[in-house]
Amino acid sequence: MHKEGSSGSPVTSPRPMAATRAIYPGSFDPITNGHLDLVERASKLFGHLVVAVLTNFEKRPLFTPEERVAMLEQVTKDYRNVSVETFGGLLVDYAAQKKAQAIVRGIRAFSDFEYEMQMALMNRKLAPKLETVFLMPAESYTYVSSRLVREIFCHGGSVKGLVPQLVEEQLRKKFSGKNRKG
Ligand code: PNS
Repeated sequence: MHKEGSSGSPVTSPRPMAATRAIYPGSFDPITNGHLDLVERASKLFGHLVVAVLTNFEKRPLFTPEERVAMLEQVTKDYRNVSVETFGGLLVDYAAQKKAQAIVRGIRAFSDFEYEMQMALMNRKLAPKLETVFLMPAESYTYVSSRLVREIFCHGGSVKGLVPQLVEEQLRKKFSGKNRKG
């Protein structure tokens, strides 16, 4: 007789976190220090972490997928178990293709929770064996988002300390010749 877990599926032996392959998906337009903080935390928990950049964006991105991947590769180069890729289509299909068992997402504040929970539960409906793991960034990054970084930079504000130095340089390049105030 096999045992059943609370989800109704048979209980299987636990897989050590170190043998777990996780995907950290997002738009990363651009990567912030909050994202990087999460990469560091997740890289300590999982055997391998794939940072996956969404390519089929509905919104018009500031950076191309190639630019975002290049920045991510540069700022994560010291993490030996972290790789960077792009993906399109459904996240659950991409996770299956990469043989990943977990999705990592960050929750900065209560306001993130509803959206994240809806996504996690929908992904679970589509792929019941794929788990979503939520991590919290350091408190100092709870108010940082890519959207605010773009907005602040575009209006001439300082994004120092909010994004890696390289991203600040790329933002400067992106806006050089454009109408950035300040
Ligand atoms: O950084 P973001 O924009 O909050 O990331 C959102 C992302 C990329 C995780 C989400 O939009 C996604 O997974 N898109 C892929 C398409 C998909 O699977 N949609 C259904 C999610 S329930």
